[in-house]
Amino acid sequence: MPTLFSLAEDIRKCTACPLWKGTTLAVPGDGPKDAKIMIVGEAPGEEEDRHGLPFVGRSGKFLDKMLGMAGLDRKNIFITNTVKHRPPKNRAPKVSEIKACKELWLDKQIEILRPTLIIILGGVALKTLTKETSVEKAHGTVLKKEKQQYFVTFHPSAALRFPETKKKMEDDFRKLKKITQKI
Ligand code: URA
Repeated sequence: MPTLFSLAEDIRKCTACPLWKGTTLAVPGDGPKDAKIMIVGEAPGEEEDRHGLPFVGRSGKFLDKMLGMAGLDRKNIFITNTVKHRPPKNRAPKVSEIKACKELWLDKQIEILRPTLIIILGGVALKTLTKETSVEKAHGTVLKKEKQQYFVTFHPSAALRFPETKKKMEDDFRKLKKITQKI
């Protein structure tokens, strides 16, 4: 059985889809190996590509603020994305890229970590992990699929763009506080 560490080593060498071309660093994910909570975003951006770490740019700062509202600290959370290399010009990852990356890496990360709760950030992660398609409908709720619990909310970049979404995301993280107090 691989470890999160050995998977990260393999992810850094991955050429299974074309996304690795033109990137600086892969972004396997970051966090303790005994984290009870996992966060799955969409794809690394420019800052993440430069540092090899997830959510270290503007979206990351906002995410840290949201986590603080829920009484959570990213130090205790394993954070990753649906794809581990930055798509060119931050375009949305393609279905084929997500499929390859999920089967090779994300599914294994989840299997190794066995998190009590996965926080889903945005529509791409929602569809990838649950097949649900509407963040508007599912946000603020816990979904249960094949024994895994998911908390659904918006992607930080959407909240940074739209004040209405930001308000909804803040409400979601207030709800999350109550949910995580029980786990
Ligand atoms: N947006 C994401 O979805 N993931 C990151 O790691 C950074 C920005």
